Amino acid sequence: MDFDKIKEDLLQEVKSADTAEKLEEARVSILGKKGKLTVQMKQLGGMSPDERKIAGPALNESKVAVTNLIEEKVAEFKKAELNERLETEKVDITLSSRPKKEGKVHPISQTIDEMIAIFGDMGFELAEGPDVETAFNNFDALNIPGHHPARQEQDTFYMPNSEDGEDMVLRTQTSPVQIRTMMSKKPPIRIISPGKCYRNDSDATHSPMFHQVEGLWIDEKATMANLKWTLEEFAKKFFEMDELPIRFRPHCFPFTEPSMEADMSYSVENDNLKLGKGDKWLEVFACGVVHPKVLENCGIDSTKYQGFAFGFGIDRLAMLKYGMPDIRGFFEADTRWLDNYGFSFTQEPNLTLGKK
Ligand code: DAH
Repeated sequence: MDFDKIKEDLLQEVKSADTAEKLEEARVSILGKKGKLTVQMKQLGGMSPDERKIAGPALNESKVAVTNLIEEKVAEFKKAELNERLETEKVDITLSSRPKKEGKVHPISQTIDEMIAIFGDMGFELAEGPDVETAFNNFDALNIPGHHPARQEQDTFYMPNSEDGEDMVLRTQTSPVQIRTMMSKKPPIRIISPGKCYRNDSDATHSPMFHQVEGLWIDEKATMANLKWTLEEFAKKFFEMDELPIRFRPHCFPFTEPSMEADMSYSVENDNLKLGKGDKWLEVFACGVVHPKVLENCGIDSTKYQGFAFGFGIDRLAMLKYGMPDIRGFFEADTRWLDNYGFSFTQEPNLTLGKK
């Protein structure tokens, strides 16, 4: 037998396999159970010792050569496949990443957090009340009588009566939280209460839903001097200014006596409002000494306790601090507006301001 020819033919069969599948077919046809080489090797047993001496090593040599070539070709195909994958699955790292959309903290929430931090440092606790309030807490207990203009339908949103027949309203101010607090707690009391209020009013500077913060300090000796210091200190810290003169003017509220409004000083530079020492005054706070009748309405002895209250618009202060011209943007739920004016979640409220 021409073993060299046999070997050449087998190697040629392997060489001509140009895909991984064809190579596998060639392997089976040569080395498989019924493969050409396998069959010939099986015949070795039937040969004479002399024949076997020649055929054995020759067939073995063919087997080694074929096996090596197959291995080589398998490696070659694998490499080619890998290269092809690398080529087709290539990641283009020069392409810029898609922008990550990050939620923003609404300026009102940010402003409320800052207020809580500043008043918190002065020892004020946080108090809360419901948006749907009894007319009693919103008006009567605050010494606002039934005939008061604020109670008229054009200002107040009336709600269906409660189950026990009480008149209900969407609270027009945060002041009813004063009542709730004084009815449920004994003095000394020192609270602030930020929250939503509602009035039948809508234009560039008024929204039917808006935010106020209420403050109340009841003690044996809480005075007007404490009130002035509290508001001045708050304004300086909130607006981050050492000099921010505040002017107190007499006013009239049914639930305080005496009552005042407080203005912050400002000037106009290049058509821009600039807070600080100036010759103009901007009305910001409403406040006063709590009326004895209100204390008595809540079961607090007005001969022993006294104190002060204040209230102001959060939206207005946020607009002033962050330079936003129109209140309507606050509540339109336009995410482009929020992207522009909102705050990052990682941004802490201005806590350092309130620290001594
Ligand atoms: N509740 C008043 C309003 O909405 C504001 C106010 C005035 C609150 C005087 C007070 C205060 O606590 O003492 O107009």
